[in-house]
Amino acid sequence: MPISLRTQVGIVGAGPAGLMLSHLLYLNGVDSVVVENRSREYSEQRVRAGVLEQGTVDLLDQMSVGERMKKEGLVHHGIELRFGGRSHRINFHDLAGGKGITIYAQHEVLKDLNNARMATGGQVNFEVQNVRVHDLESAKPKIQYEKDGNAYELTCDFIAGCDGFHGICRPSIPGGVLTEYEREYPFGWLGILADAPPSSNELIYTHHDRGFALLSMRTPHISRLYLQCRPDENIDAWSDERIWEELHIRLAANDWKLTEGRITQKGVTGMRSFVVEPMQYGSLFLAGDSAHIVPPTGAKGLNLAVADVQVLARALKHFYATGRRSLLDTYSEICLRRVWKVQRFSWWMTSMLHRFPHENPFDHRRQLAELDYVTSSRAAATTLAENYVGLPME
Ligand code: FAD
Ligand code: PHB
Repeated sequence: MPISLRTQVGIVGAGPAGLMLSHLLYLNGVDSVVVENRSREYSEQRVRAGVLEQGTVDLLDQMSVGERMKKEGLVHHGIELRFGGRSHRINFHDLAGGKGITIYAQHEVLKDLNNARMATGGQVNFEVQNVRVHDLESAKPKIQYEKDGNAYELTCDFIAGCDGFHGICRPSIPGGVLTEYEREYPFGWLGILADAPPSSNELIYTHHDRGFALLSMRTPHISRLYLQCRPDENIDAWSDERIWEELHIRLAANDWKLTEGRITQKGVTGMRSFVVEPMQYGSLFLAGDSAHIVPPTGAKGLNLAVADVQVLARALKHFYATGRRSLLDTYSEICLRRVWKVQRFSWWMTSMLHRFPHENPFDHRRQLAELDYVTSSRAAATTLAENYVGLPME
């Protein structure tokens, strides 16, 4: 017989969505238990996103988990778009009402959230196995899992599926309930971390005949750089020398120099756009990458996960305070409005900046006109700026 446990909200996955939700619920007086199949060390070291929207920063701050981010995060008030060897600045401060973004690594956010959960008695169970969700149509859904040789059954009022794109929650919903919308891109990103001071104060998104390149950073001593590559690119074919050589070519601009350093991490990421509708089935609510994926060009994945759980936490708080499901019933609809706007933006940034195989010369010229327009029209630059710093929450 499994060991029986009880909580109000069972959360599958201790990524940004799961941990944020758990801590937001705690702050609103709602109990939760998180189950995560990886180790805490693994998730606190995995290199992923790095750009936090203003709204994400403000929320972390309000939750009193923003102290280290405030100290160590790098606040940026613009980005550069580089094409034809020239840079053009998009001034967020001016165009987006003084808003900006903060560069602070996803795994640092996870460290801060894990520490906050531990300090407040949060139940986050790492390294659990064989997680399954059951009785989703009932008012007492269950999460079953194993840990240290014991079997557990956690009975909940609600389950939050925060287990990412490859998790088990979304596939546990019966066939025919969800509609999937998907688009794959014929390229990926080869990303590196390097012990090199960033060669620019702000991110540089570059359109080049040989493909897209991005200069980003993590700290004043660590650069994060990306190159457009094939989706199935063999990372072993890319020596450190070859990576730097290609970055020098694609990022080249007058009076600008790329500083090299020791490469400490490299990998290839595929690119896709994906959404399921609705983001709820019975007592199961999907949040973050389990419900949607964006290509990384707009730096939105993590921020969208945070926006979902903000809506979900508010709806759950309302349910426990009033007994009414009205906000829970509109969870999916409210989230999807933002999700589709962010999908649009991420697709648009991706389409504008990458080279496509077998590109029609017309499309190439149109792409350059788009870049010219967005960097010369205040109206066009404003739409980029307001989306990049983050659309307001509903
Ligand atoms: P995740 O971070 O995926 O968290 C899901 C958690 O659930 C994980 O800890 C996982 O171990 C756990 N889990 C999975 N299955 C189970 C199970 N069966 N049982 C228990 N736990 C389970 N976004 C950007 O904005 N910029 C970037 O540069 C960027 N780079 C990325 C690079 C990579 C390689 C990847 C994969 C994503 C990147 N993203 C980036 C996207 C961003 O990191 C995600 O959008 C964000 O992590 C979403 O958070 P999440 O909590 O929804 O999902
Ligand atoms: C990153 O720093 O990892 C990063 C920055 C901007 C993006 C994507 C990734 O659009």
